Amino acid sequence: MNQLEQLNQIVADLDLELDQINDLQTLQQKKALYLGKKGPLSQVMASMRDLSVEEKKEVGKESNRIKGILETKFEEKRKAIEEAVIAKKLESEKIDVTLPGVNMRVGGIHPLTQTVMELEDLYVGMGYTVAEGPEVETDEMCFEKLNLPKGHPARDMQDTFYINPELLLRSQTSPVQVRTMGEKKGEPIKIICPGKVYRRDADDATHSHQFIQCEGLVLGENITMADLKGALLEMARKMFDKDREIRLRPSFFPFTEPSVEVDVSCGLCGGKGCPTCKGSGWIEVLGAGMVNDNVLRMSGYDPTKIQGFAFGIGVERITMLKHKIDDIRNFYTNDVRFLDQFKEVK
Ligand code: PHE
Repeated sequence: MNQLEQLNQIVADLDLELDQINDLQTLQQKKALYLGKKGPLSQVMASMRDLSVEEKKEVGKESNRIKGILETKFEEKRKAIEEAVIAKKLESEKIDVTLPGVNMRVGGIHPLTQTVMELEDLYVGMGYTVAEGPEVETDEMCFEKLNLPKGHPARDMQDTFYINPELLLRSQTSPVQVRTMGEKKGEPIKIICPGKVYRRDADDATHSHQFIQCEGLVLGENITMADLKGALLEMARKMFDKDREIRLRPSFFPFTEPSVEVDVSCGLCGGKGCPTCKGSGWIEVLGAGMVNDNVLRMSGYDPTKIQGFAFGIGVERITMLKHKIDDIRNFYTNDVRFLDQFKEVK
């Protein structure tokens, strides 16, 4: 084959090869091979040495033309492959507008959060402000300043998780009240303190090592037990129903004197007695009392001038009674079948 024939052969060979290629990487390799220094075109050029000047001219011209043809062919093939890739993608991503839509799952507010929000609404409406504090507390704030010195037997009721002997996970939100008293320095106070608390309880249907409290503190001149009763009766009627009554029973807390346990009349039997209230007509819901003079003094309040009440609502307990939930662990196991029942938007 002379050079001109060889050049035509290159084109014919390439046509055959291009037919087999359908990805860009192989195409790129082929292009480097055909147009590169060791490629067939370069070989033809190198073999021109022995030709006459006339022939050199002719072959040179022809090889440039062939080079152009090769480049065009590679370029066309590249476009064809790219178009095929896009066409394939479009085909596979085709949207079928007749298919049923994908349901977007909408979350809901956790039932415990709903209760906290309702309590905040109620008490803010009565002129309280919402106070918060750290969950990692000092022994001093959580116990000592609440009339629970180290070694006090009543500490057993609130055994918690210690970080070191002076730092712990708060077992009640009462330290937020102590902190507020420290800030207000003898001034009147009207706050609720919702928040997480911890105790070293073994988890069962009614106990959880982590739970939520919403405590309240009202300090001022002439605050009496009647005010406490009013604040809690409002709560019972808002959280349960408008016909509820409450009753106060004597109890003990180191930080209040007198202390009371507060019962709400049973919603099922209206106070007559039924299995839910164990025949008594009343259900225990929270602890409360008049703030102990020692607690006031330790935080710089003069008990002869200012006194008041405190109460501690268990948010889980209220929520369980309200929705007739029989196991506290339901709140903490993230089962959507349980949680879905409390969604406002279904
Ligand atoms: N802090 C108490 C508890 O967790 C509840 C309480 C608060 C009782 C305020 C009386 C007054 O048990």
